[in-house]
Amino acid sequence: MKVLAINGSPNAHGNTAKAIELVAEALREEGVEVEVVQVGNLPVRSCIDCRKCRERADHRCVFDDIVNVCIEKAQSCDGFIFGSPTYYAGMSGAMKAFMDRLFFTGAMPPYKVGMAIAAVRRTGGLDVYHQINNFMDITNFIRVPLPYWSVVYGNRDGDMVGDEEGVCVMRSAGKQMAWLMKSLAHAKDAVPMPELPERCFTNFIR
Ligand SMILES: Cc1cc2nc3c(=O)[nH]c(=O)nc-3n(C[C@H](O)[C@H](O)[C@H](O)COP(=O)(O)O)c2cc1C
Repeated sequence: MKVLAINGSPNAHGNTAKAIELVAEALREEGVEVEVVQVGNLPVRSCIDCRKCRERADHRCVFDDIVNVCIEKAQSCDGFIFGSPTYYAGMSGAMKAFMDRLFFTGAMPPYKVGMAIAAVRRTGGLDVYHQINNFMDITNFIRVPLPYWSVVYGNRDGDMVGDEEGVCVMRSAGKQMAWLMKSLAHAKDAVPMPELPERCFTNFIR
């Protein structure tokens, strides 16, 4: 059982990284492997709306970078953590470019477990939490049950460890995530995954 964790911060040891690590720690205690990929320090280019990924059989992006690397990794993962710092009440620019391209390809496997993490100094963390969840919520993901919004408070160098409630939420999230992934794996022979619903695109045009 494996989880891919994406860190949308440029800081390898910042608050997003620390929060991801807390979830990862709890997951590892439950026997789940976790791989962290940092994208926030990379020059991730944004989507150019060429839609070639939708035409290609392998759904890969025309820009062969960290997005395609993560698509590859995603195929063998059971769960995903997407974490970002809060930049002007939104996710980081690199994370937005990464998420747009990753999800638009249509290559993310359905019925996977996912959770969002936002790191914030003061205000705007919940906006980031919602932004990240917007990607998962239209991609047939199953969200981790949480005791509270997974937003952690801190400014520099992983000082979110002083956000006691945030630490608690991260640890519980890891335990709940492991439980959900194990439950799905256990149930899959008894209750097969549903067929993917057919999507009806009207684009609000008659
Ligand atoms: C460009 C930029 C914009 C930011 N915007 C906000 C903001 O809107 N609200 C806020 O509370 N903190 C804001 N911050 C602070 C970060 O969200 C905060 O320091 C966060 O913990 C950084 O996470 P990291 O350590 O994972 O990089 C901003 C920081 C930067 C560099």
